[in-house]
Amino acid sequence: MPSAEANPSSAAEAPAEVRDGAWVDLAPYTVGDYHPGRGALVRLIWILVSCVAFEGGWFVLGRVKPWVLRRFGAKIGRGVVIKPNVRIKHPWRLSVGDHVWVGQGVWIDNIVEVEIGSHVCVSQGVYFCTGSHDHRRPSFDLTPQAIRVGSGAWVAARATLLPGVSIGRNALVAACSVVTSDVPPGVIVAGNPARKVRDREQPAT
Ligand SMILES: CC(C)(COP(=O)(O)OP(=O)(O)OC[C@H]1O[C@@H](n2cnc3c(N)ncnc32)[C@H](O)[C@@H]1OP(=O)(O)O)[C@@H](O)C(=O)NCCC(=O)NCCS
Repeated sequence: MPSAEANPSSAAEAPAEVRDGAWVDLAPYTVGDYHPGRGALVRLIWILVSCVAFEGGWFVLGRVKPWVLRRFGAKIGRGVVIKPNVRIKHPWRLSVGDHVWVGQGVWIDNIVEVEIGSHVCVSQGVYFCTGSHDHRRPSFDLTPQAIRVGSGAWVAARATLLPGVSIGRNALVAACSVVTSDVPPGVIVAGNPARKVRDREQPAT
């Protein structure tokens, strides 16, 4: 058998692609008619700004962050607090009301719109997942869906909100819940998949 050194052209040949029984074919994958909403330059600048001012744990000038987000097209209300280590995919697809808290380690993976009302607490490590794939098709098409959180809601630590869900006004999503469907207003949900635990009591004013 000739060695690779003796026959360099055969050594350069790529091995045949392996499908190995996979039901999907990711090789020709495209995002279809999805568009990220801004050109490559703006997205690149945002990635750099995000690394410096949002994703790191050291940048503590919290009041500057809403201003920066607005420069990138986000709608951010008054009194919004954004803690360190927060990741936001596309600020131009983010809408946040007044007096919202975004806790440390929150990941707003908003390839499409995420809308958060006013007086919402988003606790540490919450994941907003707006993207999915059509696993019923070999092309594994991208299927993004917006997420909405109503005013007065509390999304507690490490909860995951899946594509398309709406959290009703004043609802409470308990820690580590996985929300797979809409949550009605004023209820507490918990678990994976999140299920109603009981109604949330309105605090006395
Ligand atoms: C929901 C929460 C606020 C508790 O509210 P509560 O009104 O005191 O509710 P209870 O503790 O009485 O729990 C009610 C029921 O829900 C269940 N439950 C509460 N939290 C749950 C959770 N995260 N996952 C699964 N079940 C949960 C309890 O086990 C209880 O079940 P039971 O009735 O069968 O015993 C609390 O569990 C929680 O998730 N806190 C969030 C903490 C957090 O994110 N901190 C960050 C601060 S920024």
